[in-house]
Amino acid sequence: MKLIKLNATDSTNDFLKQLAIAQTLENYTVVATEEQLKGRGQMGSSWTSEVGKNLTFSVFLANALTNVEAIYNLNIAVAVSLLEVLKKEQIPELKIKWPNDIMSANKKIGGILIENAIKHHDQIQSIIGIGLNVNQQNYEDLPQASSLCLTTGQFYDREELLTKIVKQLKFNIGLINTNHVKDLWNKYHQFLYKKEIPSAFENKEGQQFMGIIKQVNLNGQLEVLMEDDSLQHFNIKELKMLY
Ligand code: BTN
Repeated sequence: MKLIKLNATDSTNDFLKQLAIAQTLENYTVVATEEQLKGRGQMGSSWTSEVGKNLTFSVFLANALTNVEAIYNLNIAVAVSLLEVLKKEQIPELKIKWPNDIMSANKKIGGILIENAIKHHDQIQSIIGIGLNVNQQNYEDLPQASSLCLTTGQFYDREELLTKIVKQLKFNIGLINTNHVKDLWNKYHQFLYKKEIPSAFENKEGQQFMGIIKQVNLNGQLEVLMEDDSLQHFNIKELKMLY
């Protein structure tokens, strides 16, 4: 694994995107930083992380996906990889909150921001950005957030963890173009937060309703069984889960 370690950068996703323009990168080139000045999250949110305590990194991938549909497989492979590594570390009550928040005991401990672009010759380039809360102990301003250290009381070697995650990413991303992609989806569904449990949601019109999560379909949409027994599909921007 080629690892570029930085002290500070705006966002490792942006750094890696720029680097990919300036030079040819090997797949699984990793950029990790101690501090992000403009860390980005899903849906235009920001990602904050105490300096030197957590993992904030991005992984470069080009040519691994053969069609646009495979982008959803990549999301699944990345979320499952994180869960598998964290499970081995005995992090309790692990779940994936759709689309790919990493949860432990109802608190968010990690997030994923994958940015895909179609480059020349229709090649799909993916920048896989991962923020994992590792040794940070204070989340006063973020009551829904937690870290590995807070859930187990242990401190973790961040580079060791990073190496394990990238190894697992390689393995699972390698399954995307094989029949074993089904196994990834099965694992994702086993870990899916609030699956089959009545939950509260808000749609993009601001209406709140109850529903039951059934699954995530191959287009990455969440399928929710509504109170009138109809099954509805939601894209990321169309639905918010209320805690
Ligand atoms: C989310 O849950 O909203 C996604 C968070 C993703 C954060 C990571 S940290 C490394 C990479 N660089 C960024 O600017 N964001 C991702």
